[in-house]
Amino acid sequence: MHCVHKISENIYWVGGNDRRLERFENMFPIPNGVCYNSYLILDEKTALMDTVDNAISRLFIENITHVLNGRDLDYLVINHMEPDHCANIEELVRRYPNIKIVGNKKTFQFIGQFYDFDYSMNMLEVKDCDTLCLGKHNLKFITAPMVHWPEVMFTYEETEKILFSADAFGTFGALAGNLFSDETDYEHFYLDEARRYYANIVGKYGSQVQAALKKVSNYEIKTICSLHGPVWRENLPFLIDKYTKWSSYEPEKSGVVLVYASMYGNMENTMNVIANKLAQKGIKDMRMYDISKTHPSYIISDIWKYSHVIVGSVTYNMGLYYGMESFLNELKALNMQNRKVGIVGSGTWSCQAAKLMQEIICSMKNMEVIGSPFEITSSMKQNQEETVDKFVEEFCSSIN
Ligand SMILES: Cc1cc2nc3c(=O)[nH]c(=O)nc-3n(C[C@H](O)[C@H](O)[C@H](O)COP(=O)(O)O)c2cc1C
Ligand SMILES: [Fe+2]
Ligand SMILES: [Fe+2]
Repeated sequence: MHCVHKISENIYWVGGNDRRLERFENMFPIPNGVCYNSYLILDEKTALMDTVDNAISRLFIENITHVLNGRDLDYLVINHMEPDHCANIEELVRRYPNIKIVGNKKTFQFIGQFYDFDYSMNMLEVKDCDTLCLGKHNLKFITAPMVHWPEVMFTYEETEKILFSADAFGTFGALAGNLFSDETDYEHFYLDEARRYYANIVGKYGSQVQAALKKVSNYEIKTICSLHGPVWRENLPFLIDKYTKWSSYEPEKSGVVLVYASMYGNMENTMNVIANKLAQKGIKDMRMYDISKTHPSYIISDIWKYSHVIVGSVTYNMGLYYGMESFLNELKALNMQNRKVGIVGSGTWSCQAAKLMQEIICSMKNMEVIGSPFEITSSMKQNQEETVDKFVEEFCSSIN
């Protein structure tokens, strides 16, 4: 049975949900599932904005067959050539042999790389700012390279002022019937997942996101249709403000994320002591994570949100605990910057952890290490309280 949703008089959401997939990109846990959006415009010409993931192909075909109601499909616009959105191109060409696939040079390069069918008679190559008239609706293609793939483009529909924004403004989390963000409790149900999606998938490309935001700021936008998550038709400045902050690596909130690696609990104890002291000095809304317990995507997301971080790690075979090393390298790879960082290291016979963490952090852009790293041998002792108090004091004064 088809499952479609009207966005406006002649535009339909024809996507679907996947709540079975364990990990998005086979990497990120998605406890609330994910949705793959696709949108169908009916006008003198018909145009489909992107397709969906293989997991929901059957429903997708039913959806567009239903909405088209016997009409031909004239255009398939490909804003993003990642396979979670393009699993159905070949099937659509087979079903609608007159279809024109709309994409840029890179889009067609990627179609050829991923698939084997002959689409040479179905290509409509466009460049930045080209337009395509469907009748009453007019599509304008705005390239948005490296948000987060090189072929990405946004499509702006000029009559209804809709921005089809590829993965930008998307989120993890399936839709529970309500398609529009204003019909959901977005801040409680989706916002953390939108941030986790942004930070981990798009986070590296802050400057490219900024460039894309600047490009679209020239257009009046009434609706944002992303490829994942709810459609935005109200309170757009809220979402655009989040994207502006996230892409400029500017924290949303003053606060501390504590992350530790501990085998036998001594580093964990030290981090609890530090957090406890910070709390008693009035620091609110802290987050603490065991690197071996929580998937890094959640920790990274919180680091995107908060202004301060404290990392604590044991020394492991003269190096860093593997989980902590990979976590810090991931943060660096994602271009994380502009945070204030406290460092806590431990070891039993040759403490290397603090120095090694400091090296990685200092190789990142605009990361400020607060005070001197706090070091312990095996376990924290009473006689170190003065030193830890000094560490906490320095850290605190960098927050206020
Ligand atoms: C496999 C393994 C390798 C370790 N390698 C080192 C090391 O190279 N240098 C060092 O000073 N301590 C080393 N340690 C000791 C840890 O750093 C030690 O577990 C820590 O001091 C106690 O903290 P914890 O209770 O938080 O795990 C190692 C421990 C283990 C289990
Ligand atoms: Fe993508
Ligand atoms: Fe996607």
